[in-house]
Amino acid sequence: MKHQMIIVLDFGGQYNQLIARRVRECGVYCEVKPYTTPLEELRTMEPIGFIFTGGPNSVYLEDAPHVDPAIFELGVPVLGICYGCQLIAQALGGRVTPAQDDTAREYGKTETFFDTSCKLFKGLPERGVSWMSHGDYMEKVPEGFALAAHSKACPNVAIADEKRGFYGVQYHPEVNHTENGTAMIRNFLYEACGASGDWTMGDYKRTAVAAIREKVGDGRVLLALSGGVDSSVCAALLAEAVGEQLTCVFVDHGLMRKNEGDEVEAAFKPWAMHFVRVDAEARFLEKLSGVTEPERKRKIIGEEFIRVFEEEAKKTGTVDFLAQGTIYPDVIESGTGDAAVIKSHHNVGGLPEYVDFKEIVEPLRLLFKDEVRQLGRELGLPEYLVTRQPFPGPGLAIRMIGSLTKEKLDTLRDADAIYREEIAAAGLEPEIGQYFAVLTNTRSVGVMGDGRSYDYTLALRAVTTTDFMTADWARIPYEVLNKVSTRIVNEVPGINRIVYDITSKPPATIEWE
Ligand code: XMP
Repeated sequence: MKHQMIIVLDFGGQYNQLIARRVRECGVYCEVKPYTTPLEELRTMEPIGFIFTGGPNSVYLEDAPHVDPAIFELGVPVLGICYGCQLIAQALGGRVTPAQDDTAREYGKTETFFDTSCKLFKGLPERGVSWMSHGDYMEKVPEGFALAAHSKACPNVAIADEKRGFYGVQYHPEVNHTENGTAMIRNFLYEACGASGDWTMGDYKRTAVAAIREKVGDGRVLLALSGGVDSSVCAALLAEAVGEQLTCVFVDHGLMRKNEGDEVEAAFKPWAMHFVRVDAEARFLEKLSGVTEPERKRKIIGEEFIRVFEEEAKKTGTVDFLAQGTIYPDVIESGTGDAAVIKSHHNVGGLPEYVDFKEIVEPLRLLFKDEVRQLGRELGLPEYLVTRQPFPGPGLAIRMIGSLTKEKLDTLRDADAIYREEIAAAGLEPEIGQYFAVLTNTRSVGVMGDGRSYDYTLALRAVTTTDFMTADWARIPYEVLNKVSTRIVNEVPGINRIVYDITSKPPATIEWE
């Protein structure tokens, strides 16, 4: 079945994939195409609507990206966002100029007033905050357009020619800072373009499976599976598409949480693929023996990981494709080349140099985290795997201060499992971004029964965060903390004191090392 489609025409804005994601969220299939795509090609795709994105240019500059004006003759509705809005204005006879003073130039959260008789704002509040980022001003609005929203500084925050189905907004409805932004996009899709909402994650799965089959042909695929959400969903998707041709190498470095290795292995049992679990605990612990410095730990783990993977890859014979569970936020983050290295994050991403292969497959490259989770569910992965909180590549090695031993790792695993159990039992999982136990290398005196103890202090960490770049410590109710603390000191030998970490990030980081 052919789905209704929206084309997001890309003018180089930073939120373009986010727009696509919002459209998908509203149940409509969508593709992002560069603005240079020939009109004929766009026409044959038979879109029910276009969204013109933002972009870094000014429409009045000579080299600024433009569209073939015939696009406005196709009888297809258009929503222009920021640059896209100005482009519509200019192309249809309006005039855009640099804003003369600070009042017409708007950045950040701006109180906005909406005309709710316009389809774009139907059923929504008359005022709200919108996220602006524009230095240009629509001095003259094209004929046929009405002003549909304004702010204190700007009379034409939104324009609309409802007869022809053309809409433009100066702000970014796709970002979270814009109140009801997704609802506005939904209105464009359903009210202006007549969308029926015929697209689901199940469709995405089918499309992705078909695309993988076409790309891979009868080639062989290799994937390093970490057990995290992204690589697990990637593995399941590839297994669905090219099962027998896929080899997943799961390097169990012995630094996982309790039962995690077995859970990952069990989750992939149903698929016909080659699943290789390498028990590499001994060699990792040997390499890490006596190492206390966090960055050294990370380096050793990263290098050893590659070595193990490489050895296994050689055993599987020729590999045509190396698969990676890269997701869209990774794509954006890897673009920030100048950012200071706070911690050298070891991700499986650095592998290609070490393994012979022809091409890379990254089937999740355009998805956001929650879409990846949704796809995982669609593929039938168990809920505990799909909703798993982020777990760092170096695992428990960076949650144990000082040197590592198997015994201490087991102690930490047991304590961490109790902590997780109680957080889940208290129903706090959805509101806490990440939580875990840290085994400090501080020992202190305690009293247990009639005897004196001299055991380790365990720290509990829990943060609320949306982007993991900044975080606040979670206000876990005292009763829950009390229960966790009581259970751990009673059930886990070697720990006689529990502390709760009440620092935000910055200045602390989420992990302790
Ligand atoms: P920090 O500690 O830097 O952590 O505030 C931010 C997020 O990144 C995760 N993290 C890592 N992930 N390899 C990873 O794959 C690493 O070396 C690593 N170090 C930190 C951390 O768990 C948190 O989600």
